[in-house]
Amino acid sequence: MNLRTLHKTSAIVIAAFACVHLVNHLVSLAGVPAHIAFMESARVIYRQPAIEAVLLLCVTIQIGSGLWLVVRGWRQRRGAVAWLQALSGAVLAGFLLIHVGAVLYARAVLDLDTNFYFSAAGFHVPPFPFFFVPYYFFAVLALFTHIGCAVYWQLRAASPRVRRLAVALPMLVGTVVSSLLVLSLAGKIQPVEVPAKYKATYTSFFTFPP
Ligand code: HEM
Repeated sequence: MNLRTLHKTSAIVIAAFACVHLVNHLVSLAGVPAHIAFMESARVIYRQPAIEAVLLLCVTIQIGSGLWLVVRGWRQRRGAVAWLQALSGAVLAGFLLIHVGAVLYARAVLDLDTNFYFSAAGFHVPPFPFFFVPYYFFAVLALFTHIGCAVYWQLRAASPRVRRLAVALPMLVGTVVSSLLVLSLAGKIQPVEVPAKYKATYTSFFTFPP
């Protein structure tokens, strides 16, 4: 199996998880309890040790193979879609590294339940929103953009208009989904009261020993 095929295969696993995962976060628009109830049902599947191991292996493969493809094709890359694909892939690789690392650290070391409040805490302790708003917004937009670029290359026989639409439409949907998720985490759509233990992971940044 070559590197590109490996990248596409692990992408299918991550995309399947990301579908459920983003729907889970969109459910928060109906309130945090609805989001947590959905997550508890979904975890029954994706927190199965064998399934989680495959998912984490795919995340590792995706980051490594993706960054290698970006670097390897640097000189041959031509055209806006090829560069958009590389840029969105690099953003996703960086995001996945930080995101999954943070989730595993919070679970294993901080003993936190990594539910909605875990993601929302950074939106409710200044100045961290300056990091978390673009962090989540561009990660979700990059996911939709990257999928759109992949579809573009599959549609070689289609008209240029259809191919351009294959990139533009997912980017438009990605912008709407990203905006809704960020507004929801920031508590701008429904009330969000983040428990103190989640906020403490950020406030402790500013607590120096006497
Ligand atoms: C606004 C956007 C996002 C938010 C708020 C978010 C939040 C979270 C949270 C709270 C968890 C822990 C889940 C649990 O404990 O059951 C998690 C895990 C994870 N997320 Fe995200 N996520 C977002 C976007 C994404 C995207 C776009 C991807 C992939 C492209 C992704 C990939 C993952 C993966 C692989 C895990 C680890 C799953 C596990 O092993 O339990 N996330 N995320």
